[in-house]
Amino acid sequence: MPTSIPATLIPGDGIGPEIVDATLAVLEALKAPFAWERHVAGLEGVKVAGDPLPEATLASIRRTRLALKGPLETPSGGGYRSSNVRLREEFQLYANLRPARTIVPGGRFDKIDLTVVRENLEGLYIGHEHYVPIDGDPHAVAMATGVNTRQGSRRLLEYAYEYAIANGRKKVTLVHKANIMKALTGIFLETGLELYERKYKGRFELDSVIVDACAMKLVLNPWQFDVLVSTNLFGDILSDLVAGLVGGLGMAPGANIGADAAIFEAVHGSAPDIAGKGVANPTALLLAAAMMLDHCKLQELAARLRKAIDETLNVDLVRTGDLGGRASTAAFTQALVARIANG
Ligand code: NAI
Repeated sequence: MPTSIPATLIPGDGIGPEIVDATLAVLEALKAPFAWERHVAGLEGVKVAGDPLPEATLASIRRTRLALKGPLETPSGGGYRSSNVRLREEFQLYANLRPARTIVPGGRFDKIDLTVVRENLEGLYIGHEHYVPIDGDPHAVAMATGVNTRQGSRRLLEYAYEYAIANGRKKVTLVHKANIMKALTGIFLETGLELYERKYKGRFELDSVIVDACAMKLVLNPWQFDVLVSTNLFGDILSDLVAGLVGGLGMAPGANIGADAAIFEAVHGSAPDIAGKGVANPTALLLAAAMMLDHCKLQELAARLRKAIDETLNVDLVRTGDLGGRASTAAFTQALVARIANG
């Protein structure tokens, strides 16, 4: 095991600092060798450094190429541009990986084990938006441009196909809307089919589905899917849907992967409604930390962390309110640390 892995830590906004503290305590119990550089972003960045993505934070990630991040608040409508989107652009984090696995059985769906791989840089999220004024109404018409490139689609699809093979996945499903957005999402579908034929045929099963039908099928029979790959907007929506299948946002981790940097986070936001109350579920960020350990080739620590989370939730039955339990963030963290110490 390496003695020290420099990594950037962004506690973030709302419940961010609470779940980051919990995650740090657990990583310390595991003796994970991260040497943290703590930095601000989001609303905290605006408050402390007058910038939602301060240069010092960017410089740290440029050095470490590795970050664990709490949720960052983004104002809706006006205000500054999402720091999350800017981080993805700055470090060309083209793949967003969101695994969803049932940990707490007995929910609406059991034994779910799905991964959504979402394109993270292109599509309708590139931020090319403007208004057209008419008759004195400055916002009479709103317009957005989506851009998908063959090269961007190919590198994401290649990542997803390699991920499927490396993780022993049986099937990959391309999710698109090429019947309506024939160019914008047609290029993604076409590139995925071509890449499979040329390089991956027979190594896993490939199929495709239109995004609206995919949403319905996921709710009716999620077990028919294995790895779902999609463009930015559809992937964003479907990964929240999939998080809902396994007990909600409190259980869903995410990784943003680029050619030479990776940022790990919970899928959920800053949860302002429960911030500061000490009741947030840190599991999603803990699972993101497990993905980070895997990424750093510390699979043994990652496996111990996942096992301890599983046992705390299902053997000790210590659960936070979002999972129907009564444990505070601190009590859950304590139980998890005890599991690690005794395991
Ligand atoms: P949200 O994910 O913060 O909250 C949605 C609901 O889920 C709330 O009722 C919240 O209490 C609950 N929830 C979320 N995480 C939880 C946890 N760990 N434990 C227990 N309950 C949890 O979504 P919302 O309210 O739409 O967004 C709030 C802010 O977060 C916005 O400013 C948004 O831009 C930002 N956001 C940031 C993300 C990121 O940094 N990756 C991702 C999504 C939203």
